[in-house]
Amino acid sequence: MDERAKENETMNETTSSVYEPHEWKHGTVVAGIPWRNPVGTASGTFQVDACGQFYDVSQLGAVTTKGVSPVPWLGNPGVRTAECPAGTVNAVGLQNPGVDHYLEYDLPKLKNMGATVVSNVAGHCDDDYAQVVAKLADSDADMLEINVSCPNVTHGGMSVGTDPMALSRLMERLRPMTDKPMIVKLTPNVTDITAIAKAAVESGADALSMINTLVGMRINIKTGEPIIANRTGGVSGPAVFPVGLACVWRVRTALPDVPIIGIGGIDSGEKALEYLYAGANAVEVGGAALYDPTAPIRVARELDDLLDSRPQLAHKLVKGDTWR
Ligand SMILES: Cc1cc2nc3c(=O)[nH]c(=O)nc-3n(C[C@H](O)[C@H](O)[C@H](O)COP(=O)(O)O)c2cc1C
Repeated sequence: MDERAKENETMNETTSSVYEPHEWKHGTVVAGIPWRNPVGTASGTFQVDACGQFYDVSQLGAVTTKGVSPVPWLGNPGVRTAECPAGTVNAVGLQNPGVDHYLEYDLPKLKNMGATVVSNVAGHCDDDYAQVVAKLADSDADMLEINVSCPNVTHGGMSVGTDPMALSRLMERLRPMTDKPMIVKLTPNVTDITAIAKAAVESGADALSMINTLVGMRINIKTGEPIIANRTGGVSGPAVFPVGLACVWRVRTALPDVPIIGIGGIDSGEKALEYLYAGANAVEVGGAALYDPTAPIRVARELDDLLDSRPQLAHKLVKGDTWR
């Protein structure tokens, strides 16, 4: 066998597991919405045309799409990303083609594929969020995720998610606009995440997801200047795994009943399992999908097998309950 044929054979071997049909054994329920398994994609790290080439995206617990705004946003100028130990710093700045494009293209495509879809909502001000939610209110989206935690935009984003009063004001406006379950995505860039979590739930959030990225930066030592044009960005990847886990643990302890989606540094079934033991109902795989597009479905398969030997946890999840 020549070298190329050998390489092709190896590639087939390594990709076959995610193409093979899989009978999911362990599902979960998040705010009343059944997920076929507890693993979804995290917003901004999944694109249907790119990932759909590698695996059947409807097999994920849920697909959370990139944040959408009322009109197209160009995002921040380059350089937008820099590597750091065990992670990435990014300041994409919520570039997206706008909610009308999303409703015409991405959402129907995903729904036709049979995916459970969480639509992530972005805004620079309360009116922006309200305009997007109004358009998604009667759409085919299964759940909405309100992103009040992006560190890379100058208005809206994290400024809302670090202020309990601003968050309550926003949620009291958005909540009556739709019957769809509303998830509020929290930032770890606060002293006490439980205060923000309580404000979100008291003003109508049906579920919480955490964490978004941590503020960070890199400096080019040849120029003495920041590498990223925005100067600072958001850190994601394995480096933030223990931070996300502690946030889930603390919020679960403060709010025993709210559904929680754990995010941050997940790249294996074992790490997903740690989040479930910390009290999450489900998890999402983010940056791992940027270097391995199959990471979310691989993590889902690994977790499905790990749950075989943990029937108590599996039983709780399928009922919409959690380990603690
Ligand atoms: C390139 C990039 C773009 C992102 N875009 C969004 C976004 O549009 N909305 C959002 O709520 N989070 C966004 N995030 C945050 C991720 O969804 C996730 O919360 C974060 O990266 C932590 O998870 P991870 O360590 O698994 O990557 C983005 C992250 C990255 C790396």
